[in-house]
Amino acid sequence: MSVSIEKHEKNRIFSGIQPSGELHLGNYLGALKQFVDLQSEENECIYCIVDEHAITVPQDPKLLQKRILDLSALYISAGVDPKKSIIFVQSTVPAHAELSWILTCSSYTGELSRMTQFKSKSQGKESAPAGLFCYPVLMAADILVYDADEVPVGTDQTQHIELTRDIATRINNTRGETFVVPKGRYLKEGARIMALDDPSKKMSKSAENIHSRIGIMDDEKKIRKSIMRATTDSEAVVRFDPETKPGVSNLMNIYSVLTKESMADIETTYRGKGYGDFKKDLAGIVSEALSPIQSRFNEIRHSEELLTILKDGTEKASAIAVPVLRRAQERFGLGLPKRVD
Ligand code: TYM
Repeated sequence: MSVSIEKHEKNRIFSGIQPSGELHLGNYLGALKQFVDLQSEENECIYCIVDEHAITVPQDPKLLQKRILDLSALYISAGVDPKKSIIFVQSTVPAHAELSWILTCSSYTGELSRMTQFKSKSQGKESAPAGLFCYPVLMAADILVYDADEVPVGTDQTQHIELTRDIATRINNTRGETFVVPKGRYLKEGARIMALDDPSKKMSKSAENIHSRIGIMDDEKKIRKSIMRATTDSEAVVRFDPETKPGVSNLMNIYSVLTKESMADIETTYRGKGYGDFKKDLAGIVSEALSPIQSRFNEIRHSEELLTILKDGTEKASAIAVPVLRRAQERFGLGLPKRVD
């Protein structure tokens, strides 16, 4: 008898962030803030520190260990509550990598080579690491191994979520119902925060200009400097129009997610005022939002409690992931046969 998908009662949420550098406001508004806001009675939340994704590009082992702790502490200081959500490190649950291999055997080089993130990261290189190529399949395994219903991410991950859905559907159609087909969950505002110095590019950890982004741990002075320098336009009118005013619209996006004010309200507040007032206020709003996270971070980062939370997270995550992996293995005929006939 084949193992069927076990129904879970609550809406199951899964997401992850790479411990590959200091988080910026885009990561916070597009993903981490959603992680926090989704914690409720209706949802069962599982949040991962995806260290195996980080090694698709070379990492210093000591620095990676430090960043795993930094990111875990940041999840908690931003408001992910270990009493409500599972927080764990990807490589401590081997079921991810095991399922990833099964999914790799059901994926095509054509679809993987169409991934824009792979194309941009491998551009100009004579030969790209195979891990960079297979990265989206590992991401699919992360999600599918928890029977996740929804995945809160920024829109730069849309293509990876679609691939996850394609792989799950393909296996369900050929091997029988094996995986829950998940949906991406994107915010209306905040899902794509652009670089402050060039609003045609997304805010990213790797951009050279530190004023292109706001780091979650940036102090008030740095935040003010980066926002005051942000690229706008010569019209000097605070109006939301991403097509013709991408710089101001990006800043309004940030303002709106943090204050929950609509674009129309923001436009009314700053009618007749220049960009200077608007930027000054925005810098204050951003500092105020980040400052409590920064103080909690400093309290928790070096506490033993952090390790206890992560160990507990590994146990809870494994308890969900291992049966799903077994279900997938069974569909493919893997593992020790039960009988000799
Ligand atoms: P990563 O680590 O690059 O980014 C973490 C999250 O931040 C979002 N994000 C943004 N949102 C808005 N504006 C931006 N400028 C911006 N930059 C980044 C990303 O969309 C993401 O939600 N492949 C993933 C990590 C991953 C994952 C998973 C996510 C691995 N397995 C399973 C969900 C489920 C990544 O590289 O994210």
